[in-house]
Amino acid sequence: MPPEDSVRALVERIRAGARVSVLTGAGVSAASGIPTFRGPGGLWRDFRPEELATPEAFARDPLLVWEWYAWRRRLVAAAAPNRAHDVLAAWSRRYRGFALVTQNVDGLHERAGTAGVIRVHGSLWDLACRDRCAAAPARWREEAIELPELPPRCPHCGGLARPGVVWFGEALDPEVLAAADSAADCDVFLAIGTSAVVYPAAALLAQAAAHGALTAEINPEETPASASVDHYLSGRAEEVLDRLERGLTTAAFRV
Ligand code: OAD
Repeated sequence: MPPEDSVRALVERIRAGARVSVLTGAGVSAASGIPTFRGPGGLWRDFRPEELATPEAFARDPLLVWEWYAWRRRLVAAAAPNRAHDVLAAWSRRYRGFALVTQNVDGLHERAGTAGVIRVHGSLWDLACRDRCAAAPARWREEAIELPELPPRCPHCGGLARPGVVWFGEALDPEVLAAADSAADCDVFLAIGTSAVVYPAAALLAQAAAHGALTAEINPEETPASASVDHYLSGRAEEVLDRLERGLTTAAFRV
């Protein structure tokens, strides 16, 4: 469990009306049974995610890449949001100015009830035309768990469709990046369940600190960010967020 002083400091600031922003990574979905990228169980058929989540991998073998995404869509469809998603959804309803930036593509924050999630890496449930044909929207939603064919086709030009996610080596959507940058202008910034190694998302913590935010990290393992945050709360997201939420909602909790 994290140090009680850190829990109190965060509860005090959040209760005092601070604007809270949160960056999440794969660790928040671990308790829902979704494997993280860099942790144990993050491998699929002996491929590392970094070998599949690239434009080059898709150009080489679109079916292989799509089989990986189809597997992930099935896994997520069978999963449910956990306590970490639920606490953040409660904060999104309760605190004005709350912002949630996620690197996750699973949609579990939305399913828990958080509106306006800033999805910096796109969504497993979006598709896009590989050739960005003029007739197709930039992305479209496809929520059928089993796609009618693999690899799926663009309904507008008949060419290949690709997952509506951001791959290594690709730029983030400028509007989404601008929204994430705005979220870094806050009073309290929490990085939760992310290895904090993938940029530009990992830079948000330093941006928030530059804006004068109190910064905190929730992760059972230390990351490159742990030494620079104001509070490193060692532990699982679902447990530490539950602890914070009990502090925030218990009248008797003394700060
Ligand atoms: P990673 O797999 O790199 O890191 C997951 C982090 O979650 C690790 O630091 C774990 O220690 C931590 N963790 C594990 N279980 C946890 C729990 N129950 N509670 C809290 N933390 C826990 O995942 P990300 O940081 O999300 O990008 O990865 C960033 C990006 O790299 C992903 O969005 C994806 C990936 O390749 C793209 O696909 C572009």
